[in-house]
Amino acid sequence: MFENVPRVDSLSYDAFISEYAVKGRPVIVTDLFAGEPIRELDTLESARAALGRTRVCVHNGYEHYFTLAMELLFGRPRPGSLLERRPSTVDEYLRGVERRPESREIASEVPEDMVPELCALYRVPPYCLNEAGERDDYVSELWLGNAGNHSHLHYDADQRHVLQYQIFGAKRAILIPPSEGTKLGPISNNCVVSPEGVPDADRDEFVRFTGGYQCMLRAGEALLIPALMWHYFEYVETSMALTMRFRRNRYARFFGDRLHFDYRLQAIAWRFLDERAITPELEGAFAEVEQAYWRPSVSPIEKGEELQQVFDRLYERLCAPASPGTYSRPFLEVVRRSVRHLETEGRKLYRSSTEEDAHRGGAATLRAGEALQSRSCESAVDARQEMR
Ligand SMILES: [Fe+2]
Repeated sequence: MFENVPRVDSLSYDAFISEYAVKGRPVIVTDLFAGEPIRELDTLESARAALGRTRVCVHNGYEHYFTLAMELLFGRPRPGSLLERRPSTVDEYLRGVERRPESREIASEVPEDMVPELCALYRVPPYCLNEAGERDDYVSELWLGNAGNHSHLHYDADQRHVLQYQIFGAKRAILIPPSEGTKLGPISNNCVVSPEGVPDADRDEFVRFTGGYQCMLRAGEALLIPALMWHYFEYVETSMALTMRFRRNRYARFFGDRLHFDYRLQAIAWRFLDERAITPELEGAFAEVEQAYWRPSVSPIEKGEELQQVFDRLYERLCAPASPGTYSRPFLEVVRRSVRHLETEGRKLYRSSTEEDAHRGGAATLRAGEALQSRSCESAVDARQEMR
């Protein structure tokens, strides 16, 4: 496989933010946490010895969720909850996947207040703080998955940058800029294309075709995933990672917290990453979105459709794709619209409190919508609450 993500050390805060994060350029930092105890957990054995009793929440894997959500969408729901998580520990998870290496269970999005043993082993990197040195908008999570597991292509719709520190094990990462999203068959913040199981040479061609980046992340390395980039992880070895999510400007907070997920909004928001490069044209575009958001509408679903029309218009105006054409059949818009409606219900978007009362019920729809949420702190909070 070819690799094209630069590895750097001694990177200054200013360079990390201004040359990489807000420019949408990934980078691997090789000296993160230098001299701190977390770096000593660089093998499965050493991490297990230190964190074996640490609590985690385990679930069946995101593909399981999406499969069930699609079955609900097409009117063939299976019994049971989409968001089943069970309490476990690091050691119990590892013993489970040693017994069943084919398992696709994963311990993901474990929030930091569940893992104080890990948090005691490092200080939050300055890269993840704001200019005043504060933890503004910062959240972190533990991820633990076995060899053969995947996180399929998606973008994180909360619109934070991510610094992923590989504690132990190797993971292949592919990152693709939003400008190439049409090549992926995007639906919400996921897509129908994924390079799972394809030979090295073909995967390399896929990365080149999509203008992407590829690397093998190893213990002790930290990958910056700039906000909004499509990303894919393949667990080449059983591995554990610390994911640190940080820094949103006011545009990203509005786009990420209030609006539904869509690849055209993703590409629009990508233009707003660097707050110092906001032009009057972009300010005008943001005002259009805000006005559409606050304008009264007959229902949340209708509001979502009105906003989608604004996204479509702005995308045409602001976001010339890297390659012309759509790379997908027009009927995919029907699927996107249906998923959009599920998400609007599931995330309770675009509702006044009165409307919310009127929309109570429809639990299956809500659960399907929840399953289509981003991997964000929202679902981690749900998991934490379930664990208590
Ligand atoms: Fe992600």
